[in-house]
Amino acid sequence: MSRFFLTTAIDYVNSRPHLGTAYEKIAADVIARYKRLAGSETRFLMGNDEHSQNVFKKATEEGLDPLAYCDRMEVEFRRTWKHLDISFDDFIRTTEPRHTAGVTELARRIHATGDIYEGVYEGWYCLGCESFKQEKDLVDGKCPLHLTIPQWIKEKNYFFRLSKYQRPLLEHFEAHPEFLQPDIRRNEILRLVESGLEDISVSRAGQAWGIPLPFDAKSVVYVWFDALINYASAVGLGGDQTLFKKWWPADLHIVGKDITRFHSVIWPAMLMSATLPLPRQVYGHGFMTLNGQRMSKSLGTIVDPIEAANRFGVDPLRLYLMKETAFGSDGDFSWDRFAERYNVDLANNLGNLISRVSAMVHRYRQGTVRPVGAVSDQLAQVGNQAASDYRRSMEALALHEGAAAAYRLIDATNEYISETAPWHLAKDPAMGDRLSQVLFDATEAIRLAAVLLSPVMPSSAGEILRRVGSRADALNLHQDGRWRPDGERVLVQEGPLWPRTETGKEQIRVTDKPGSSDQPALTPKSQTHTHTDLSPSSNAQPLQSRISIDDFMKVELRVAKVLSAERVPKSKKLLKLQVDVGTEHRTVVAGLADTYEPEALIGRSVVVVANLQPATLMGVESNGMILAASPDGAKPIAVSFDEPPPPGTRVR
Ligand code: MSP
Repeated sequence: MSRFFLTTAIDYVNSRPHLGTAYEKIAADVIARYKRLAGSETRFLMGNDEHSQNVFKKATEEGLDPLAYCDRMEVEFRRTWKHLDISFDDFIRTTEPRHTAGVTELARRIHATGDIYEGVYEGWYCLGCESFKQEKDLVDGKCPLHLTIPQWIKEKNYFFRLSKYQRPLLEHFEAHPEFLQPDIRRNEILRLVESGLEDISVSRAGQAWGIPLPFDAKSVVYVWFDALINYASAVGLGGDQTLFKKWWPADLHIVGKDITRFHSVIWPAMLMSATLPLPRQVYGHGFMTLNGQRMSKSLGTIVDPIEAANRFGVDPLRLYLMKETAFGSDGDFSWDRFAERYNVDLANNLGNLISRVSAMVHRYRQGTVRPVGAVSDQLAQVGNQAASDYRRSMEALALHEGAAAAYRLIDATNEYISETAPWHLAKDPAMGDRLSQVLFDATEAIRLAAVLLSPVMPSSAGEILRRVGSRADALNLHQDGRWRPDGERVLVQEGPLWPRTETGKEQIRVTDKPGSSDQPALTPKSQTHTHTDLSPSSNAQPLQSRISIDDFMKVELRVAKVLSAERVPKSKKLLKLQVDVGTEHRTVVAGLADTYEPEALIGRSVVVVANLQPATLMGVESNGMILAASPDGAKPIAVSFDEPPPPGTRVR
């Protein structure tokens, strides 16, 4: 049996979990559940990062001993993860003795290699990031992420010879392209490592909250150095050797893009220095925003994941987060969009399909279906294709594509029912076998879709499987994740799994098939998603050239503010722009030099396609595209706003 050890970032406990931190845990949970479904012995680790100064500060403000404060927060975190159905196997806190043992062991090993030396650190430190900042990292003297002025510190520190690992790291990236994914992060980090690495501070002086350095108990280990080691201490580093041998190295670290650098540069260098094996993959996912804005407590843009889960249920939230956003890219949460997707994907599509099929099976076959041999392999083929697409996507961590593959089968089943019209077959006694087979196939398609969706919607999948008369325990992708043409199924007919919600914001039309008034339930074949502004004149375009709202939503359009602009050397048309896309600053190359002087663009807000793969134009890597209208023969005009919304706002 293969093994799979995956981890998430461990969270700072100075505030409660929010939808952004929860997004990461849900994604990792989907991967863990998929791995178990695929038959791997899986170990899924999560935890809390407690030795941060912000935690110490928060505890002091609340008049609590820091450990007592962390104990209280652990309850809060565990409660949230339980509510969201996160199936971790182990939960580590950095104040546990097993973690101290791991940190002590790794620090001792690195020290023994000669990679730690004493020095004096003088410079900026951002409490929010818990990291040392260089002047060039600051914007107007502030940390661009936390918008606060960092502390100036001067203290005796121990330094880690990170610079020594520049070449070994580059060699590792070269030999293992899969080590850091997705490619956009890999490219970013490669560039960073290529530009040279400086030694880093790994201790803090004069602080009591932290793990003492094994070779100088007057200093504590720097919180990031401490935190990264959790992945190894949780599986026995410095303690249980058997456990360590069994599980190390980790197969996958799931972390946000803001901390990919720590995981793909500092962490592997620490392990190289300690002569321990490196994790097989680091995956840097994107950020979740709220209505296009960075989630931040001070901006009031935090969403409580429990509140979000209570809106329509945990599984609808998990599906929305996983299916709506390409994993790896940034995603946006909005309450309206959540309600819209709930109605389309669950109430109208999957939920209605289940209701219709079980109603028909009860009406026409007393609740039991069995195949009769008149194989209609049309749906079976779609099912097997969806299952193999699903497997490929999930193995590549394209979680959104995994969900989309399951939905292709659901869509095809809805269409199949409309085409075969069981309500007509039921009127013709000569079509009895055909009717049985059609109902069996539809039931089997629902079963298979439920298995494929089970990592995303664990409890709903169990309920669907119960309703279609299939086993829901100990599922196995190899046996259960393919079309099964045989076996009797006894269906349970109960109320709708996901009642439609009225949002008032969108209109969702569910059309009855003409002339089929005796259908047991509505036909959702065309869950026509009509926005109010779809005017009749827009019908002039031929239908087949249109795209679905899902296709459109794949394009991530965002407001970006131009921070700097310059001509690309030797190019007449190209400008190189630095833009603020809300969560980060990016370089974008735009063909606007004919229209605008570079200075004229600085400070303007434009629209960028934020999730384009990077492209190199005249030797400059562009990470996005600026939207511009190019009338025939005239110069391109950048799309702009009268009153610009904040950078990062999603445009749709
Ligand atoms: N404690 C460090 C991680 C140490 S790992 C050895 C930390 N903690 S955190 O609480 O700030 O963030 C935890 C995780 O949540 C990180 O991977 C971070 O990128 C992720 N996210 C925080 N906000 C997020 C969004 N708005 N969207 C998606 N992920 C987000 O960093």
